[in-house]
Amino acid sequence: MATVTYDKASRIYPGSERPAVNELNLEIGDGEFLVLVGPSGCGKSTSLRMLAGLEDVDRGRILINDKDVTNLPPKSRDIAMVFQNYALYPHMTVYENMAFALKLRKTPKSEIDRAVKEAAALLQLEEYLSRKPKALSGGQRQRVAMGRAIVRQPQVFLMDEPLSNLDAKLRVQTRSQIASLQAKLGVTTVYVTHDQVEAMTMGHRVAVMLDGVLQQVDTPRALYDTPGNVFVAGFMGSPAMNIKTVPLTESGATFGALNLPLTREQVAAAQQGGDGKVTVGFRPEAAEVVTESTGALPIVVDLVEDLGSDANVYGHSEVGGASERFVVRTERRYMPSMGETVYIKPNPSALHVFNAGSGQRI
Ligand SMILES: Nc1ncnc2c1ncn2[C@@H]1O[C@H](COP(=O)(O)OP(=O)(O)OP(=O)(O)O)[C@@H](O)[C@H]1O
Ligand SMILES: [Mg+2]
Repeated sequence: MATVTYDKASRIYPGSERPAVNELNLEIGDGEFLVLVGPSGCGKSTSLRMLAGLEDVDRGRILINDKDVTNLPPKSRDIAMVFQNYALYPHMTVYENMAFALKLRKTPKSEIDRAVKEAAALLQLEEYLSRKPKALSGGQRQRVAMGRAIVRQPQVFLMDEPLSNLDAKLRVQTRSQIASLQAKLGVTTVYVTHDQVEAMTMGHRVAVMLDGVLQQVDTPRALYDTPGNVFVAGFMGSPAMNIKTVPLTESGATFGALNLPLTREQVAAAQQGGDGKVTVGFRPEAAEVVTESTGALPIVVDLVEDLGSDANVYGHSEVGGASERFVVRTERRYMPSMGETVYIKPNPSALHVFNAGSGQRI
């Protein structure tokens, strides 16, 4: 059982001025499943490797259970890592792959046997124990990599995009297997992905990174409902939130033909450094599609994505003299066709408002 603390931890790669990870502060609870998410190059793998001891920490500290591990070698940290490419030993059987770390530790044979068989049962790998990795499917190899981490009974699991080699269907399946396995074992887990759907469905909490800087860390629900800045608002959720920067008035935001009312406090906060503008957003499902033009924004439909139960309608509209793109979700019984003009009314209580200068939530 373990907690993990990043205390202003930074990594600056030699030859580069900008930190790949910049003063990361993050506390991960005992038994928690924490997902690190963000676009390519934002510093996810670097953060994970710093915790593993595979990357230097140039400033700040990393603690496991209040013990400063910043300068400990990887093998003294009691963690197990599952990599994207699994890194299985090709010349060893599944059994030997899983037993390897325990053998190095000189664990008694009978104990190794028990641990491997237990993990194999948990991961439904029993019938493959004598096979070599090349005779396994991608999903089975992924499970062997998990098994290798499990048998070590580490304090912390680290996983770096462990599902990226799997096809879409297997990925969804394996996603839920990993989540339930983690719940069963109760081992503190840090999981890296660039896929926001994976992050939302797997994590107890999700930490969103951009350019080496932690943007927000919270439950999936809270990130979705109250994103702290424009980046998080646009990154979490699919299709992405409609976000536009528009003129600010005394009473709200001028959204093309629409006036979106804002509270006096919101207007005041938007005026600070906003240069007469405000950034507003609404999610695709937070707008009503109506047939009447009064008090609604006209959208010319470019594409309808029929999802069976409902549909995503993509279109464009003139807002402040420029053509802006929008996406809304409609119910099955109302599916417009391409080229048609529909009218949308964002739900005022589901508006997200951000300062146009800083991008911070108001
Ligand atoms: N060994 C290295 N030397 C120099 N720069 C590096 C090194 N490894 C990574 N970087 C840089 O540090 C930044 C963060 O890289 P990192 O691998 O942590 O990103 P990531 O979030 O894991 O991205 P991805 O989703 O593509 O895996 C990137 O700009 C990358 O180019
Ligand atoms: Mg990475």
